[in-house]
Amino acid sequence: MEKYLNRAIKSVITEFPKVGTILNDYEIGCVTCSVGTCLLKDIIEIHNVPKHIEAEMMKKIEAVIKGDDTAVEEAMEDLNIQAPREITYTEPIQRLVAEHTLIKRLLALIPDVCDSVNADLESNREVILKSVEFIRQFADKFHHAKEEDILFAYAKGNTDIISVMLEDHKKGRYYVKSVLLGLETGDASFITYSLKHYRELLTEHIKKEDEILYPWIEKGMTAAQIDELEIKFDETDLKFGNDFYDKWEDFVNSLEK
Ligand SMILES: [Fe+2]
Ligand SMILES: [Fe+2]
Repeated sequence: MEKYLNRAIKSVITEFPKVGTILNDYEIGCVTCSVGTCLLKDIIEIHNVPKHIEAEMMKKIEAVIKGDDTAVEEAMEDLNIQAPREITYTEPIQRLVAEHTLIKRLLALIPDVCDSVNADLESNREVILKSVEFIRQFADKFHHAKEEDILFAYAKGNTDIISVMLEDHKKGRYYVKSVLLGLETGDASFITYSLKHYRELLTEHIKKEDEILYPWIEKGMTAAQIDELEIKFDETDLKFGNDFYDKWEDFVNSLEK
């Protein structure tokens, strides 16, 4: 078992696909993760699995790896019985989660925006431009800057997960550029294609941050570092101005109406 703990999770899942099923059941999405170089032992650490759940999950994984058919059958029957995990955050991290909530409200409107664009691009030009501005100003400059310039520096050990997040941010910028290109060329289908891909990307990205990355980074931080983080976030908010958040919340409110 020891040697499997030190192997990349993707290679363990390739050899034992049932390990992927078990991890999925514990809401650990290694099967769909684009990196997959985390070691099996890192998965437990990064996903902040509570001790009693960890023991249960590892028993099941061990049964699969050892090829103990009876134990595997018992283990698979036991799946889906776990209680949902409740996550609590420290104050500064809770601020990032709240920013995600506003971003998710915009993401939820994208299918309707796409329908309107397909029906009549010209009369929706302003809505697209304002939505792009929201993504660039609020989601990217304001929120992603707090992550990239401040929070990510506190991540210890495994940096693969940070690389995945940075890559997602880059892909998001690429989709936004594509939306603008579609506007320039009057190509409604390219605009809606890019917006839908942005929505899919950010939805998954936010879920990974809320459920995996933030709890994992927080766990490795001292109380003094949490205080320091709050001060740095305050400084950033101040740079953007007191009405910055309200302004973009008003925009989302108006679009929802
Ligand atoms: Fe992010
Ligand atoms: Fe984020």
